Amino acid sequence: MSAGIKLNEHLYWIGVNDRQTDFFEELWPIPNGIAYNSFLVLDDKVALIDAVKDISLDRYLKKIRKLVSRDRGIDYLIIKHIEPDHSGAVKILRELFPRMQIVGNRKTLELLAAFHGISENFLTVDDGSFLHLGGCRLQFHITPMVHWPETMMTFEQRHQVLFSGDVFGGFTALDDGIFDDRIRDLGPYEYEMLRYFTNVIGKYSVMVQKALAKIAGLDIRMLAPTHGLIWRNWPRHAVGLYDRWSRYEAEDGVVIVYASMYGSTENMMEAIAHSLGSETTGALRIHNLARVHPSYILTDIWRYRGVILGSPTYNTGLFPLMDHLIRLLENKMLRHRVAGVFGSCGWSGGALQELGDFIRRMKWELVEPAVEVKGAPREEDLKRCALLGANMLKQLRTGIPRGGEQGDSL
Ligand code: FEO
Repeated sequence: MSAGIKLNEHLYWIGVNDRQTDFFEELWPIPNGIAYNSFLVLDDKVALIDAVKDISLDRYLKKIRKLVSRDRGIDYLIIKHIEPDHSGAVKILRELFPRMQIVGNRKTLELLAAFHGISENFLTVDDGSFLHLGGCRLQFHITPMVHWPETMMTFEQRHQVLFSGDVFGGFTALDDGIFDDRIRDLGPYEYEMLRYFTNVIGKYSVMVQKALAKIAGLDIRMLAPTHGLIWRNWPRHAVGLYDRWSRYEAEDGVVIVYASMYGSTENMMEAIAHSLGSETTGALRIHNLARVHPSYILTDIWRYRGVILGSPTYNTGLFPLMDHLIRLLENKMLRHRVAGVFGSCGWSGGALQELGDFIRRMKWELVEPAVEVKGAPREEDLKRCALLGANMLKQLRTGIPRGGEQGDSL
């Protein structure tokens, strides 16, 4: 049994991989698992920095036991974020180490009592407070709403390690090692980092920007989030990714997301995709809502600047899966996208109006024509679909709205 992984003369990673949970927060698929990172500082004082979810506790506690004798015990448990994926082990830790003080801010204490019924032996820290462990000195930076109100980052000044909480984290268990420089190809990992960001953190992008501004003056040698890789070679790269994503910056490309019950909306999608595919300079991603989990669709929409949504009318309104997707997008408050809409209807329209209303609420740029077809699309309908694709490309290239001459106005 591993005693953890040494990060420096005082610091150990003692986290666990979760390969049992199917959906993070019971919402987001994690087919490759996720890591809950926990750290142990062994100095004159012994401090745990974050705990883990209440799974694999045997493995977790054995790691602690290998490094900390029963007599020595733990002096502090620093909770930077009370969400149960990091605080699930708090009760058992308190039972095993009754002298251990739990360290957090006032908001942490309130949530600790609410989630775990613990309100004693708590050390309250404020923004900028220090905690001396011997040679190591921790400073606390309160960074609310990334991703709960009590969240704070902790900077260990001697070795310049930033414990950043969920920020800079990613999905996937740590199979190839815990360090950025141990990963042969960072591309797939960065995708899972973006998926974690869009699914979990993106809604709080404004607060992420405030947190990044707050830590901008720190000389960070190592970045240690609560999920995913420890960045010891390229911490600034991880910071740069989060900076771009939380400013809603996007890459060149278009995402078409559609649903189709009997093929009409899908035929329209094909005409749009063909017109985009013949000229596009960026990526073209196509997602059938009935086949792809919204977790992955959100990730692509966050990544690329153009999005085209297609929905049939279902019971006078949006197709339910599209309704779900736009509610998620609205909840995540993604900004600055260029959008088009299309869809088919039978005995009643309705879906396109709802899509248009959604684009306006999001303050996205709407590219015309909005194409609605009654029944199966005819040749002239498919031409309007192709025009929508062409106008999307023009808009992405020039920023000048074009088209609409043949389209339905929303
Ligand atoms: Fe990893 Fe917001 O908890």
